[in-house]
Amino acid sequence: MQNYHHYLTVKPLLTKDEFAVTEQVAKNFGAPGGVGEKLQLMLEEKGAKEPNWLSEWWLDSAYLSYRLPVLVHSNPALVFPKQNFLSKKEHLAYAAKLIVGALRYKAIIDSGKLEQDYLGKSPLDMSQYTKVFNGCRIPGLKTDTIRHALDSNHIIVIHNNQFYKVVVYGENGQILDDRDILNGLTCVTQKYNGPSAGVGFLTTECRNVWGIAHKELNKDPVNRASLQAIEDSIFVMCLDKSSKIEDNATVSTRMALQLLHGYGAENNSGNRWFDKTLQLIVSEDGVNGLCYEHSPTEGPPIANLADFIVNYAQEKTLRDDERHLTPHCERLTFNLTSALDEDVMLAKRNVDQLVQDVQMNSFSFDKFGKEDIKALKLSPDSFIQIAIQMAFIRLHGHPAAHYESASTRRFHGGRTETIRSCLPEIVNFANIHLKQNLSPHEKFKALQSAVNAHKGYVGMAINGQAIDRHLLGLKRLAIEGGIDIPSLFLDPGYSTSNNWRLSTSQVAAVNDMVMCYGPVTPDGYGCCYNPRRDEINFAVSAFNSNPTTCAEKFGEALKKCLEEMRDVATSSILSSL
Ligand code: COA
Repeated sequence: MQNYHHYLTVKPLLTKDEFAVTEQVAKNFGAPGGVGEKLQLMLEEKGAKEPNWLSEWWLDSAYLSYRLPVLVHSNPALVFPKQNFLSKKEHLAYAAKLIVGALRYKAIIDSGKLEQDYLGKSPLDMSQYTKVFNGCRIPGLKTDTIRHALDSNHIIVIHNNQFYKVVVYGENGQILDDRDILNGLTCVTQKYNGPSAGVGFLTTECRNVWGIAHKELNKDPVNRASLQAIEDSIFVMCLDKSSKIEDNATVSTRMALQLLHGYGAENNSGNRWFDKTLQLIVSEDGVNGLCYEHSPTEGPPIANLADFIVNYAQEKTLRDDERHLTPHCERLTFNLTSALDEDVMLAKRNVDQLVQDVQMNSFSFDKFGKEDIKALKLSPDSFIQIAIQMAFIRLHGHPAAHYESASTRRFHGGRTETIRSCLPEIVNFANIHLKQNLSPHEKFKALQSAVNAHKGYVGMAINGQAIDRHLLGLKRLAIEGGIDIPSLFLDPGYSTSNNWRLSTSQVAAVNDMVMCYGPVTPDGYGCCYNPRRDEINFAVSAFNSNPTTCAEKFGEALKKCLEEMRDVATSSILSSL
């Protein structure tokens, strides 16, 4: 396994002179008797006392203290296969099946009978699954908290921006039948009595702003009871209307956007509670999927849940028998002061601005999939990562700091580590391929070396031996211990290499689905993918407000890079036969 040091991963992003400075700063930091060694000893002491020294720090710095709106900036969405509903009943019946599928999955989790996840041969920590249901993020003035109801027997259905509490278990604690849930959803749609206060819009705000409004809302006992019902619910089902949009986007891109942000105030952005860990969404035009609040869990457990409920919904036929149980269904009300009304108005304007800013390009690359890459004896994930970095170089003329999430669920309470995919070998291959007229054999050698470097880094990351979480721990110790922030963290090499213009992630699912999320820098791209047997689903995002990025062009460059890389490999293999 190749062992990368922090200062080598910044090399492609710096000039020679800048790199020389960073290299020296890194060496000073790690020198015997230096501040790095002191912090390392403190970290090891902490690690010896706690089951996972990173958990709280990570939750706080990656999520709860992050002040931008959770939608687009943090909550991922997962697009399920499109449906076509011929009637309102079909729309609600599909939603009912997704609800029952989710409740059945919850029952498996609660019984402890969920099949063990593995990465290779290593069993993975399963605790994230226990946080998917009954959870909600609560906004605070400086930092948020997570609330997790121990017991709950209802879900929240949102329809026309109004909130309904629907009980989903029978008297004996059994999950209600799909037919009964359908009755509950029908009851929701019949209770509509005019425009709503639009409280859901508040969850689209910056966290400080929403934190103040949440405090204000809580002063009124009716609001407090409604908030509690939402926050303690098992999950949320959003029954959306068709979004009215005038653009040339493809169906898959539109689906991704509707699930990610709801397309603004006039469409479905107020038909949400973005703080809820799990929101299932089914629109009358067949768009369906989920949006989840990221702080309690990563994409893979959510994708496994999604596979389960999509399979359930697709296999299940509703009984149309004599039973007519209608579950308890109650509209939640809010009393808004004029100040809160204004907050809602402002939230609507802000969400429209954010919606306008997001570019999405969701597509299925169908020239080849995971199995063809394996047949070339290359790691599919590394291959895709190299193509993403090369697409950036092709489009922008230089490499970008590149984040890929690696699972650290081999460890107790493990979440992720960063794979720094902008490695010297990857940039070298891209430069050779794009700029030099070498033989396929020579190019293939460079590609293999890039794949090996990436695969080596993946090995480090999943084994807890990579750079970023370790450095976060050392930095947090310095801050908490009142120690001067070491110059390593103030060095431009550090900040440049943390400015993730490429924020990427593999979220594999068996069904034809893809996860999507926004970029994490104003001039960056989000790129999530699902490598399937014979195709790769991608969702690329960027911001309109940045003149240098374009999700459409990035997608085109990415397709080209994938195809050319395959050609390099096949022509080299063929010429050596
Ligand atoms: N030749 C042939 N086959 C190969 C190969 C090679 N050189 N290298 C790998 N493969 C095979 C693997 O054996 C595996 O086979 P399988 O389909 O039978 O399981 C398959 O190709 C996929 O392996 P690879 O593409 O190398 O990647 P991976 O599945 O190990 O995934 C990560 C790599 C980093 C994505 C994974 O370790 C991970 O951490 N996933 C979770 C990420 C996450 O949490 N994301 C969400 C954040 S919200």
